[in-house]
Amino acid sequence: MIANLLILFLMVVLAVLFAWLTYRAVRARKLWVKIVGGLAAGVPALLVAVIAFTGGKGIAATYFPGAAPAPQLTVAGTPEQIARGEYLVNLSCVGCHGAVGPDGAPTGELPLTGGFNISQREGFGFIGDKIPENLTPGGKLAGYSDGEIFRVLRHGVNKEGYKLGLMNFLPYKELSDDDTQAIIAYLRSLPAAASNGPTGDNLNFIGAAMLGAGMFGPPAAPAPDTIAAPAQGVTAEYGKYVATYGECRGCHGPAVTGSPATSVSPAIPNPRPLVATLSQAQFAEMMRSGVKPDGVPFPETMPWENAAKMTDSDLAALYAYLTAPVQ
Ligand code: HEC
Ligand code: HEC
Repeated sequence: MIANLLILFLMVVLAVLFAWLTYRAVRARKLWVKIVGGLAAGVPALLVAVIAFTGGKGIAATYFPGAAPAPQLTVAGTPEQIARGEYLVNLSCVGCHGAVGPDGAPTGELPLTGGFNISQREGFGFIGDKIPENLTPGGKLAGYSDGEIFRVLRHGVNKEGYKLGLMNFLPYKELSDDDTQAIIAYLRSLPAAASNGPTGDNLNFIGAAMLGAGMFGPPAAPAPDTIAAPAQGVTAEYGKYVATYGECRGCHGPAVTGSPATSVSPAIPNPRPLVATLSQAQFAEMMRSGVKPDGVPFPETMPWENAAKMTDSDLAALYAYLTAPVQ
């Protein structure tokens, strides 16, 4: 944060300097000095002012988000909660927070030690590091209260109250209070495993300026303080909830109708037309095997392994949702 604030200060000083030079040039007596000097100082003044403004906006949104205090909460940690948390975490979180392999790529396997640099690997390292945290009691969560972990998942805010660069964009804000608590119970039940390198969100000034300019998409809508899940069952309504923790909505758009390209992600197609041509059994077979009915496997960009771990009834609910009218 300090480095970003210093750069912001520098940008503001530069903008003022160029603005002053522009003023001096425009006030000059010779016409050519007015024009050449005005342009030579005016254009950079404008440019630096715009960068300072968007950078300042990104910095404000990240470090001064006006986060609500973490709830007072003690998760009981019952066997049912731990089992439910295990199911949810191993569907989605493990893809990013799992152990890294010898090649530095995520393995999608326990322990949840995290440590691969998503922004570097996905080609947007110029915005700063984004490294999934060690979620076992061997990592920083040992110093978090249950309420503070709850706030990470519900509001995308860390212990200090800063917006998290990546977690804030993920769909876990829509998880029910019960499921969020189940996840906390499971994380607390894990054996402590040591981190294998630096972790966390390290947004730099370029990232802050891009964030401020809205280049990562619109800011996520604030989440309510309490959320109840729809009744569990093979219904389109519960299927939508499955599509939330199964992350389909995170990539394929809020209504799973596809999403346009952003500066950090290519466009993602609408899966509904294909699913509409399949029976429930064919859909389940496709999601379990990673191969589409025409024999073409899903590419690496489509993480079907998550869906492959779903229960039969969750997959059936997902099918019901994807074949129901869009809502
Ligand atoms: C797409 C990758 C991705 C997925 C999936 C993901 N995370 Fe994260 N997580 C990150 C990154 C990256 C960070 C580092 C902070 C940041 O940039 O948001 C992080 C940080 C965290 C933190 C630490 C926040 C802090 O206070 O510093 C917690 C807790 C966490 N994640 C929990 C979870 C849980 C629980 C799930 C599943 C429900 C999950 N994450 C799924 C990428 C992911
Ligand atoms: C990390 C992002 C991501 C997530 C999460 C994700 N998808 Fe996808 N999905 C993609 C991409 C990218 C493609 C397009 C792959 C290609 O180019 O063929 C795709 C393709 C598909 C297709 C094939 C569409 C077609 O017409 O060929 C289906 C079906 C699908 N996804 C369903 C799902 C479901 C169901 C979920 C949730 C369990 C899900 N996806 C989660 C990124 C994602």
